[in-house]
Amino acid sequence: MGKLISRCNLCAFLFLCAIIALFSKNSSATDSIKAGEFINASTQILVSAKQKFVLGMFNPKDSKFHYLGIWYNNIPQTIVWVANRDKPLVNSSAGLTFNGGNLILQSERDEILWSTTSSEPAENQIAQLQDNGNLVIRSWSENYVWQSFDYPTDTLLPGMKLGWDSKTGLNRTLKSWRNQNDPSSGEFSFGIQLDGLPQLVLHKGQVIKYRTGPWFNGRFSGSDPLGDTAVYSTKFAYSAGEVAYSYEAISSLDIIFQLNSTGILLILHWDDGKKYWHLKYTLANDPCDQYGLCGNFGYCDSLTVNCNCLDGFQPKSRDDWEKFRWSDWCVRKDNRTCKNGERFKRISNVKLPDSSGYLVNVTTSIDDCETVCLNNCSCLAYGTMELSTGGYGCVTWFQKLIDITTVPAWNGQNLYLRVAADSVDSWKLIVGVTVSVASLIGFLVIVVCFNRWRRRKVKITTYEFQAQENDEVEMPLFDFTEIEVATNNFSFHNKIGEGGFGPVYKGKLSNGKKIAVKKLAEGSNQGQREFKNEVLLISKLQHRNLVKLLGFCIKKEETLLVYEYMPNKSLDYFLFDDKKRSLLKWKKRLDIIIGIARGLLYLHRDSRLVIIHRDLKVSNILLDNKMNPKISDFGMARMFAEDQTITKTKRVVGTYGYMPPEYVMDGYFSTKSDIYSFGVILLEIVSGKKNKGFFHLEHHLNLLGHAWTLWEEGNALELMDETLKDEFQNCEALRCIQVGLLCVQENPDERPTMWSVLLMLESESMLLPHPQQPGFYTGRNVSKTHKLRPIDQTPMISNNVTITLLEGR
Ligand SMILES: *[C@@H]1O[C@H](CO)[C@@H](O)[C@H](O)[C@H]1NC(C)=O
Ligand SMILES: *[C@@H]1O[C@H](CO)[C@@H](O)[C@H](O)[C@H]1NC(C)=O
Repeated sequence: MGKLISRCNLCAFLFLCAIIALFSKNSSATDSIKAGEFINASTQILVSAKQKFVLGMFNPKDSKFHYLGIWYNNIPQTIVWVANRDKPLVNSSAGLTFNGGNLILQSERDEILWSTTSSEPAENQIAQLQDNGNLVIRSWSENYVWQSFDYPTDTLLPGMKLGWDSKTGLNRTLKSWRNQNDPSSGEFSFGIQLDGLPQLVLHKGQVIKYRTGPWFNGRFSGSDPLGDTAVYSTKFAYSAGEVAYSYEAISSLDIIFQLNSTGILLILHWDDGKKYWHLKYTLANDPCDQYGLCGNFGYCDSLTVNCNCLDGFQPKSRDDWEKFRWSDWCVRKDNRTCKNGERFKRISNVKLPDSSGYLVNVTTSIDDCETVCLNNCSCLAYGTMELSTGGYGCVTWFQKLIDITTVPAWNGQNLYLRVAADSVDSWKLIVGVTVSVASLIGFLVIVVCFNRWRRRKVKITTYEFQAQENDEVEMPLFDFTEIEVATNNFSFHNKIGEGGFGPVYKGKLSNGKKIAVKKLAEGSNQGQREFKNEVLLISKLQHRNLVKLLGFCIKKEETLLVYEYMPNKSLDYFLFDDKKRSLLKWKKRLDIIIGIARGLLYLHRDSRLVIIHRDLKVSNILLDNKMNPKISDFGMARMFAEDQTITKTKRVVGTYGYMPPEYVMDGYFSTKSDIYSFGVILLEIVSGKKNKGFFHLEHHLNLLGHAWTLWEEGNALELMDETLKDEFQNCEALRCIQVGLLCVQENPDERPTMWSVLLMLESESMLLPHPQQPGFYTGRNVSKTHKLRPIDQTPMISNNVTITLLEGR
């Protein structure tokens, strides 16, 4: 958090403790300097009228340098502005003079360390620190001849402007500190890009790391936090005289935007009760926000977090999918001949491609913009921005279409892409999906109605991811007697576990193949429904981290699912066993975590058919002979169309300890519920302890609460399973724990997507957000504290058995 004290990382941020002056009030403090005055530059020079801000000298921890800066009077250690960031004072004292025109900071050796750049001295001018943190030089009229707000360092205060002003000729940008202890200009800058449609861009040196889309509808497209929120309102001026962005706090809350030294823009508000800067948003939080992630002609789907190619383009190779190598992934499908018959296809809800370097024409209508593009053969696409002065800014793209993201509707604009007249790709896709899903449902209806149990082969067309391939898979219907024989008549000795809706047996088919058979509890209608659901779902899912369904069998009330046999049982068999746990080495555990994440990403990634598992837990993670993890038990999984991914249910099903609060209490579930369960699993894997039933001598927290507390105290490594001893690298382990904690955050919106989880786990350099309090932080007695009547009524089933809660009984 830049120069703010982060509670988790206290030691790293203690540098500013040197500002003793913050606590030693200077009674004679004034808010202004008059012409001709000289002030000995001490820790406190000016205090604004309402005592809100201080101008003074500070000395970062472990630094021999002294700087003139502005900070909050009543909020500790928050420097919002630095005057001489690149020319500090060393081994000397200094004085600040105001000559009636300029402020000058001079060392006792008469070296000028900093001065303002206003014009000539004039009568009646003063230098004044105002209550909004602005240091100004003004006459008695309110005209500022100079203001610190025009020279931002790394902090944007309410009322301060980013961007260009024709009067001063300045293009105001934020520039990060070099590191937490060094206010000199760092690598990162954030400001308005003036060519093309105006957008905010984050640079690291010369390289673009992130950009917002253009301003539209009160926000920058594709970037929520920089638009209005409940606590601040935003403004964007786009005219001949200025292009500038600013915000104002709505309540009396203290808010700052700060570009920290690792290049993250933080939006913080001061929590006066808890006395810390609460992180409200970070910018560029989404994996799709990485500049140009999907390469030229590609776009990133922010819902599934997935790269796709624009119409008329196709992926060069599909091998790279799991390796996340996207750049130059999309190539033109066929040689484009710029002939007649080309038209424009509207792609809605996108963050428009980067328009820097492109000309913006002012046109009277969107159609005019179309004409401009159509008339030039090499124009690939166009987009517009409504101007406050009337008309449209029209941008046309050539050669490159880069950094496009599809975003939620309120947050996106229209891109008009030039396509061949016979482009029908989108239609094929939709028809393809409908047909195959319908045929599956039809198929099941037939099977169930006729209730045949002769073994035969049935052909099903599955809908493969992105509908680019229609594979035929065989879904065998097994003979009941054959299964009876294979499992020794479902003998007790063959029983290997208890799944959500009935026992699981191992067996051996006559051809020697080993199978696992899940037998649904007899006469349970509920089971039947889940059963159909599972067959329907799982038959379409093919991924090496999902357990493979070999076939199924229906005989009157009996319903069986036949899976490939997993010789190493399930993860809990190892993880929660004192002896076997040590067999799970750290590298293996990491592999398992990543495997589960990949399996889950496969379930979540498809934009048209999101699958939410709803009952992820350690005992549902099976292990094959090489100890590769496979997610099993899709009995509760639900399929969703794109627009209903947050759903409310009356039947809360799942396993205690793995269900997130919003689901247990209100029945809301989404992919973020699976993410929560994944986080629990992750923390269980690294700690070797169960969340449910976790016990600690010193406190009453559950495993999540325990992990979070350790994290906040900076002792997260204590969470690690002691059998792992020195097998892990600290940074690797910490990264894992942090990802786990991010997944179990109480607020579902703050939990990362599966895609981010994988990126975070696999990339060593990626910066991770600071985790907030986990769900069910208060500890183990959730059933009591949260009025879960249904649970109270049900005699609590053993820890790892799936339970069903019915609301309103
Ligand atoms: C910058 O902010 C991010 C996000 O909160 C944080 O992870 C990172 O540690 C911060 N960097 C510094 C140097 O404080
Ligand atoms: C099309 O636009 C490009 C880029 O503005 C320009 O260089 C080129 O001359 C134009 N071609 C025609 C035929 O107008």
